[in-house]
Amino acid sequence: MRQLAQLGLLMFWAAAVSSIAAEPHGTPNLACDDLRALPLNINVQWQDDEGGGVYSILRTHCAACHSVSGPRRFRVASTADQTLQLLLGEPGLVIALAARSSELLLRINCVNAVQPSWRMPRCSTVPCSYRPLSDQALIYDWIAQGARGEAFGQAQSDVVFTDSLESGRR
Ligand code: HEC
Repeated sequence: MRQLAQLGLLMFWAAAVSSIAAEPHGTPNLACDDLRALPLNINVQWQDDEGGGVYSILRTHCAACHSVSGPRRFRVASTADQTLQLLLGEPGLVIALAARSSELLLRINCVNAVQPSWRMPRCSTVPCSYRPLSDQALIYDWIAQGARGEAFGQAQSDVVFTDSLESGRR
């Protein structure tokens, strides 16, 4: 019985999450790389013990143009904690649980037909390339799992995807 109740709760939660993710993100004309076929990253860390995780991707590939003192809304600081606080403090960049509404994900995942330079990292320098699907998927999963990080003393994410263990990405 208890298991049934838990299952019900899980399904309710799944429905709630997918309705959040289905919200229009206000950026039409986007053509996005398909991330559905990639393996899910369970329990994605903002920064893991080996220096990997979402922060290290942003630090390596975005910090040059997105410095703390620069004019951008998205800013990468020299510590993971400070960067996370800056990131979550800017409305719309990361919307926890709703990766497809989060500008951070859309900018690295999608081409904007009316604004060719919209996709990040901006390739005004050579060599320059978009992030591989595996990095895009990691950032997707981090947001979809609640965009957690130690800066806020949060517990690690324990969210596992709900679509019958198939990809929860859209
Ligand atoms: C070569 C410089 C350059 C690099 C590298 C770069 N960006 Fe940008 N980014 C820009 C510029 C310029 C803008 C503002 C113009 C615009 O909105 O397109 C911008 C805007 C953004 C925005 C919109 C919010 C804001 O701060 O204005 C996001 C989100 C973003 N970039 C994410 C990224 C991510 C993630 C990376 C790394 C994977 C990255 N960028 C790498 C130059 C860069």
